[in-house]
Amino acid sequence: MKVYFAPLEGITGYIFRNAFNDIYGHIDKYFAPFISPAEKCPVTPREMKDLTPDNNRGINLVPQILTSRSEYFIEAAKVLDSIGYKEVNLNLGCPSGTVCAKGKGAGFLTEKDELKQFLDDIYSYSESDGIKISVKTRLGYHEPEEFYDLVEIFNCFPVSELIVHPRIRGDFYKGEPRREYFAYALEHVRCPLVYNGNISTKKDHDELCGYFGTDLDPVMIGRGLIADPSLADKLNGTCRETDMVKFRALHDTVYHEYKKVMSPDVNVLYKMKELWTYWSILFEDNSRDIKRILKAKKCTDYEDAVYGKLLIG
Ligand SMILES: Cc1cc2nc3c(=O)[nH]c(=O)nc-3n(C[C@H](O)[C@H](O)[C@H](O)COP(=O)(O)O)c2cc1C
Repeated sequence: MKVYFAPLEGITGYIFRNAFNDIYGHIDKYFAPFISPAEKCPVTPREMKDLTPDNNRGINLVPQILTSRSEYFIEAAKVLDSIGYKEVNLNLGCPSGTVCAKGKGAGFLTEKDELKQFLDDIYSYSESDGIKISVKTRLGYHEPEEFYDLVEIFNCFPVSELIVHPRIRGDFYKGEPRREYFAYALEHVRCPLVYNGNISTKKDHDELCGYFGTDLDPVMIGRGLIADPSLADKLNGTCRETDMVKFRALHDTVYHEYKKVMSPDVNVLYKMKELWTYWSILFEDNSRDIKRILKAKKCTDYEDAVYGKLLIG
């Protein structure tokens, strides 16, 4: 089955993607965290560093664009096309307050007429340019019932893949996904459909397939893949237990690569601690060591905590 790595802003940048891809692999598509094009600046130098093919060798990467202005989307897509990308993704799911207040991400879902016009513009461009546009969406902003109209809108356009995170904006990433609306999508969406949300184990995936009465393939996974980097292999039946040798290699590569490009220590540790909030479930019996990691202020303290007992040095 196909597994897509969900975009996680601040986590799945090029350093993490490269480490993951070299050590685990078996990801069919990586979606990059969103870029936010602005007037006369379709892609910032920082965003370009993350997306340049030189920093993403051997990785099937789909850049993601967050905007409600079709001219900004098209300018960004043209730049991405010029460096070799054949697919870009539209973010209609971001629940952040500042993003939604500007009518972007999930905040764009309330403006049905503007959204239709926006999609009309960007798909006219994509047809002339030959670049594919996929969409990652929530069910709605206020109510999940908004999804019925949204499906009707998406069905009017050549969406290359529709990735549905079955929550509304106010759900953020919490609670159970609203599966019944994804069941509706399976019945009514005309383009290829991808499920995203709360798959952390093979059992979760099997249960979802049972619920929907169909094999969910592809699926997009974010937090579950960070927390258990062997998850894609488990879903594909090529591994049963989390491979801790590979996990150590992933940790060490990400840590050393961050140290090369970041300073002082607190910045590196901020990144690593964010990862450990996910990884801690792999070390349930070692809560004291996890606490030491999360409290570390210097790399030496961090290394003592990580290599002392958790990842035997
Ligand atoms: C820290 C964080 C950052 C995220 N950044 C993005 C992003 O840049 N673009 C996007 O479409 N979704 C983003 N998401 C949402 C994820 O891609 C995904 O839809 C969500 O985590 C649900 O899937 P999961 O349960 O498999 O993690 C983010 C989620 C988190 C927790």
